[in-house]
Amino acid sequence: KFVPSGAITGDIDLTDAVGQGPLKPEIVKTSPIAGQQPGTSGLRKKTKEFMSPNYLENFVQSAYDSIKENGTDLSEGSLLIGGDGRYYNSEAIQIIIKMGVANGVKRFWVGENGLMSTPAVSATIRERGPMWQKAYGSFILTASHNPGGPDEDFGIKYNCENGGPAPDELTDAIYAKTTTIKSYKICKDFPTIDLSKPGITTVKAEDGSSEVSVEVISSTESHVELLKTIFDFAAIKALLDRPDFNMIYDCMYGVNGPYAKEIFVKELGQSEDVCMNATPKDDFNGGHADPNLTYAKELVEIMGLNRKGEAIDTGDRKIPSFGAAADGDGDRNMILGTKFFVSPSDSLAIIAANANKIPFFKAQGGLKAVARSMPTSGAVDRVAEDLNFDLFETPTGWKYFGNLMDSKAIYKGTDYTPFICGEESFGTGSDHVREKDGIWAVLAWLQILAVENSDPSKPLVTVEDIVKNHWKKYGRNYYCRWDFEGVDKTAAESMVDMMRGKFSQYTGKVIDGYEISTADDFTYLDPVDRSLAKNKGIRFLMSDGSRIIFRLSGTAGSGATIRMYIEAFEPEKIDAVASDALSGLVRVALDICDMKGFIGTEEPTVIT
Ligand code: G6P
Ligand code: ZN
Repeated sequence: KFVPSGAITGDIDLTDAVGQGPLKPEIVKTSPIAGQQPGTSGLRKKTKEFMSPNYLENFVQSAYDSIKENGTDLSEGSLLIGGDGRYYNSEAIQIIIKMGVANGVKRFWVGENGLMSTPAVSATIRERGPMWQKAYGSFILTASHNPGGPDEDFGIKYNCENGGPAPDELTDAIYAKTTTIKSYKICKDFPTIDLSKPGITTVKAEDGSSEVSVEVISSTESHVELLKTIFDFAAIKALLDRPDFNMIYDCMYGVNGPYAKEIFVKELGQSEDVCMNATPKDDFNGGHADPNLTYAKELVEIMGLNRKGEAIDTGDRKIPSFGAAADGDGDRNMILGTKFFVSPSDSLAIIAANANKIPFFKAQGGLKAVARSMPTSGAVDRVAEDLNFDLFETPTGWKYFGNLMDSKAIYKGTDYTPFICGEESFGTGSDHVREKDGIWAVLAWLQILAVENSDPSKPLVTVEDIVKNHWKKYGRNYYCRWDFEGVDKTAAESMVDMMRGKFSQYTGKVIDGYEISTADDFTYLDPVDRSLAKNKGIRFLMSDGSRIIFRLSGTAGSGATIRMYIEAFEPEKIDAVASDALSGLVRVALDICDMKGFIGTEEPTVIT
């Protein structure tokens, strides 16, 4: 291999360096920066921290080194880069490219304007290009639903060849390297790439010995093409064209806007008004781009609801038939009907029960397996039992689903893996990609509605009708989650420790009529790689099937976030208001954890 001349000062191996001129790598001395351990979904910190000297560079060099050690040849195939468009997105991309060149990457694909939603990254890795060009991985610049801007959050994560987030071994290896890093490699003279329009820039070494190409690609194409093979767009268009049906999709100024416009305006011929807040902004317009009843306030009001998901008086104002929202990086979703909130756990169960209305599943002989995270309600369990699906209960975090999807062995007697999974945290998806997919969930609902409404002469079957019919058949898992955000970390940890220390005292105890049959900390044995995940949530399982669960968030921006999940199953009484049906259990939960004692309040910041 060509070794560049010039003064080499660091102790880095330059055998994979690419040449002279713009491809001449330089070595920059650095030293470890504490705290670069990636969390549930990559490394997330304040933007200012990311912009501080060497912060991004240290992490990216550690990533390139780890990816290489993991057996990936950076010079073969393509490296994809995209982000949710938050502040510092484009600058970070240029740095990652310049460092990539110095580390031996020969072909980059970058989303137009630096944008690419998380599910689109997954789709693009899996679907784009001929075999020899396929992406081996991707850097995604996102902090998901966390606010963006110079004073808010930034994030970076790496996804692998299967389109899913890097496994723990890889993120641990990256972290280990950040603790010992001494220098990083960068081609400072590599040109800054114009990300504003698709096209290929090829940069050659001065002596012509090697070249690197950077292709700015459509952010939406691979993902939209994939979605068109999954759903029946003509049937969805017929629904949307019905005079008695109208929808609104809140993109919350995140990356989802271009995808929503491409699908609803261009492919399905709807008016631009269908897509709300659909121009990405680098600070999400100062909002919290998280699709739930608290943060998607504007949409929730339009749909005739309050922050508890209850119908409000709207006079004669016309309320849309269908409302949806997406988070900053487009992987989460919230589904609403006219004055009606669909809880994410119910949404998962209902999509699973109706999966065969979606061509993707039908074509593969029907859905075979479903999975939910532990705190997600058991609504989908009843569907799985009824329809004979394999059912998995995993810890919180999409990566556990990815592992199941990539294993064919665990499915009963077939190679196909039509698979649907979801979480209470507004994530839903299937094995078409290896991330949750917000727009997929919206299309899944529209597909189900389209089939239910295939006869235009009949009155509209609404979102509420579909949910209530589901409850009539399967019973209702009343559910709510209370979040206590920005609380003192030590207090939150002591609270969890207190409960952990008392499991045996709780077992068998009856509190306010609820008998605790099990009190434990959720442990998961991954059926695929047999790895054990411990301490994944404090559970109080009641003998009547109700559950109280506590977890500390793995994605909290600052301080700690306590999540309290409450669930009660009712086979017949399906028409109560959720907050009423759950008030007794909520009281028991607040007492068990001594919320007031530990954090000084019982008032949550968010209820979903
Ligand atoms: C991210 C992950 C989800 C996970 C969620 C949990 O969105 O992609 O898979 O459910 O974080 O967040 P938490 O804050 O509850 O740890
Ligand atoms: Zn997200």
